[in-house]
Amino acid sequence: MLDSVQTTERVAEILNRHRGMEGALLPILHAIQEEFGHVPQEALPIIAQDLNLSRAEVHGVMSFYHDFREKPAGAHVLKLCRAESCQSVGADRVADHARKELGIEWHETTKDGKITLEPVFCLGLCACGPAAIVDGKLVGRVDEAKLTKIIGGLK
Ligand code: FES
Repeated sequence: MLDSVQTTERVAEILNRHRGMEGALLPILHAIQEEFGHVPQEALPIIAQDLNLSRAEVHGVMSFYHDFREKPAGAHVLKLCRAESCQSVGADRVADHARKELGIEWHETTKDGKITLEPVFCLGLCACGPAAIVDGKLVGRVDEAKLTKIIGGLK
C-alpha cells in the first residue's frame, strides 16, 4: 500500500507523461486507475490543479464513465452488461441474481474482498447476450445457473 506522498509522486509522474496532450483528462484517469487499481481521492485535487479544472469537473467525468473506481476492487471483478441488447435477453434477471447471490450492489465488493460487481455498457458480444466479463475474460449467454457457477469458481 502506498502512502500519500508516494501516491502524490506517482500521480505527478502520470501528469507529466500527459503534459501538453489535448483532452488529457480521460487518458490520465485511465493511467491512474491502471497504476493504482482505482482513482484515489487524493489524486483528484492534484489532477484538477494541473489541468486547471475544478475538482467537481474531474469528479463529474469520473462518475460519468462507469469504468473508474473510487475504491480498490476485490480480488476478482465481475462485470455484467447492462446495455439494451443484453437487457432484451434477460440481463436484468441475471443482474438481480448476481446482486442477491453476492449480497452487494453495483460497484461494491463482497465483505471477504473477493468479488467486485460492476456494470458495463456493451462488450461487443450482443449476439451472445446476456454478456459478462470475468477478470477480463468475456463470457456469453449468461443465465442465473451459469452465473452461480461463475461466482462459485471465484470464491
Ligand atoms: S449489449 Fe451487451 S454485449 Fe452488447
